Amino acid sequence: MMAANQVLPSTASVTADGHLSIGGCDLVALADEFGTPLVVYDEQHLRATAAEFVRAYAAADRAAEVIYASKAYFGLAALQLLREEGLSVDVASGGELYAVLAAGFAPKRIYLHGNNKTAHEVEDALDAGVGTVIIDGFDEIALIERAAAGRGIVQRVMVRVTPGIDPATHAAIATGQVDSKFGFSLAGDAQRGVAAIRASAHLQLVGLHAHLGSQLFDLSVFGPTADVLADFAAEVGPEDIEAVDLGGGLGVAYVQEHDPPAIAAFAAAQADALRSAFGARGLAIPRLLCEPGRAMVGRSGVTLYRVGGIKPIPGIRTYASVDGGMSDLLRPMLYGAVYEPVLASRAAAAPDRTYRIVGKHCESGDILVAEARLPELVVGDVICLPATGAYGVSMASNYNGQPRPAVVFAAGGTARVVTRRETYADILGRDLA
Ligand code: LLP
Repeated sequence: MMAANQVLPSTASVTADGHLSIGGCDLVALADEFGTPLVVYDEQHLRATAAEFVRAYAAADRAAEVIYASKAYFGLAALQLLREEGLSVDVASGGELYAVLAAGFAPKRIYLHGNNKTAHEVEDALDAGVGTVIIDGFDEIALIERAAAGRGIVQRVMVRVTPGIDPATHAAIATGQVDSKFGFSLAGDAQRGVAAIRASAHLQLVGLHAHLGSQLFDLSVFGPTADVLADFAAEVGPEDIEAVDLGGGLGVAYVQEHDPPAIAAFAAAQADALRSAFGARGLAIPRLLCEPGRAMVGRSGVTLYRVGGIKPIPGIRTYASVDGGMSDLLRPMLYGAVYEPVLASRAAAAPDRTYRIVGKHCESGDILVAEARLPELVVGDVICLPATGAYGVSMASNYNGQPRPAVVFAAGGTARVVTRRETYADILGRDLA
């Protein structure tokens, strides 16, 4: 039997052969059939997580809207599934917009972000009928206004502000502080931004946006954030602040000792914070919007790697090299992110050895797991890295000419390839020489 594991998807179990399985599919068999590195999503877990978000936010605020942050993973099959579950979606680029439109999201339910939206991106978004544009800075007000005027429309917009709250997460994924490239500062800029929008016949302000950061575990940040936003609404006039979008941020467990808040607790903390902050100032309570990325897809996905080499260095450590690395999972290298691998080939064996799991790239820093506790490894073993469903594939590259992995959805004992593995020809496909 496998010990209780909150980093693997909920359908994870161990087969009679001692292999790890997800969605009723033996992961060693999937690695044999589809090759490695392979990203496997537990379809049932993904659907259940989306449904839980919808339920939790509806319970916290009847008018709430759950907007999936597509940057976390924008594979078409996942986007279609999340659309079916009733989510709205946010995009931070023309490429993400293209993906969510291809997945069939209603344009009205798309939110466009970006701290440097190009004219093309804005025009494409308005042509598609995107519901809401989140304005990130002065320079884009005129850009969006011109595009809206040219089409004879009134574009719904929100203003993104930096509330000056330190969210206690890695500096690279903290965004709510004043020293940020994102959003308007509240020390004058945001007030002028709101005034400029209100003065436009082609822009309609509908609310405020503040994303504090990512991989948050501490719910106490929302009280002060809501206070800052309510003060701002009172200052500029609350009449058109119909919604407040508190961004994404709910953390996930990457290792067993991580203990993120439950979705319902996160939703309740945000809704309560808005209610008390706006209520205390005698303002109407705005509708709550949220933009989960990581917590929507992170735990549903795992990555399978095959061990190709084992190098013991006496008195120092033992390296185990796998067939992927920083090209398919950049988070350990970029943020010092930690992961806890499971040996898919012998999932019930005691993890009584320590290995450094490294990728195949020509960089000493290509370390996936610095100190992994695993059973004794042999070449050919399949290692499963849990909780890689968010910001894995979406941040993948072709470094060292490595094709990006295939993605498989597993459910009810059946696996279907939803993204085929990249080929060498794909990698050279854009070169015109
Ligand atoms: N909304 C906005 C405006 C955002 O900037 C982000 C994330 C989200 C929503 C979704 O946040 P989440 O729920 O996933 O925390 N690549 C990094 C994460 C970067 C997040 C950037 N913005 C990582 O792998 O940790």
